[in-house]
Amino acid sequence: MAGTIEAYVNDRFLPLSEARISVEDRGMQFGDGIYEVLLIHGGYPIFLAEHMERLERSARGIRLSLPMSRAGIGEMIRALVARSNRATGIVYLQVTRGVQPRSHRVAEGTVPTLVAYTRDLPAHLPVESCVTLPDDRWLHCDLKTTCLLPNVLAKEAAAQAGADEAIFHRDGVVTEGASTNVFIVDDHGQIHTHPTGPWILAGITRQVVVRIAQERGFALSETPFDLDQLSAASEVFLTSTTAHVRPVNRIDGRLVGSGRPGPVTQRLMEAYAEVIDSEASVMSR
Ligand SMILES: Cc1ncc(COP(=O)(O)O)c(C=O)c1O
Repeated sequence: MAGTIEAYVNDRFLPLSEARISVEDRGMQFGDGIYEVLLIHGGYPIFLAEHMERLERSARGIRLSLPMSRAGIGEMIRALVARSNRATGIVYLQVTRGVQPRSHRVAEGTVPTLVAYTRDLPAHLPVESCVTLPDDRWLHCDLKTTCLLPNVLAKEAAAQAGADEAIFHRDGVVTEGASTNVFIVDDHGQIHTHPTGPWILAGITRQVVVRIAQERGFALSETPFDLDQLSAASEVFLTSTTAHVRPVNRIDGRLVGSGRPGPVTQRLMEAYAEVIDSEASVMSR
């Protein structure tokens, strides 16, 4: 059952309907900020340590000092989820460089704005259809910044083509989805996903799936693959905090394999579901 929507803005818990930030916030004017989306599962925010580590990495990457310690932010998130009283959902957390009269230069003494709130999990289809598009983003895709315009436009282009997700490629090398990481399974059963680095976001779900695959004896290589390998793949799946492990049945209008979720994808979907259950029970202790 959905709980209430709770928010936190700069030291204060309040209902989302009352949450406000200034029109002069640098996040709004310059996209000068970073964010995280965490899964609430079994009543707890899961993979909290991994998300906090990535938040710190993004903060360092844009030379932003977080307004609270990692432990302080973690505690706030736990309190927010407890107050929102929901078994499932998401926490959206954003830190921007703060409020000042508009200027590209950062004014000395500007205090970062920290906003967080809970929401229901967005609805996902059981399988996704995708289109491929040139990746026209910058070279710091490893930083989870709020500058998401290329991703937004790619999602719109996908929707106009009747698809759910856009898969980016740089000169034919598949990088990631507009809001997901991309995996393929080749006809030898080998799983491939783009290595971490400046071209992709190191997804938390990706990291967990790579670990599961290694622990459970799947052959997985973090090496780049191209559009030809994508279209020849017997299975393709996407990963993200909200989509979990999601099979792809169609790319650019063509069926992937038989068009039904393949055996490797299904086993990883099940394994991922087990891991998030056990993660929620660890968080409850
Ligand atoms: C561009 C991009 N890649 C990958 C992901 C998946 O990351 P995660 O598994 O941490 O949700 C996201 C999530 O929003 C994303 O925006």
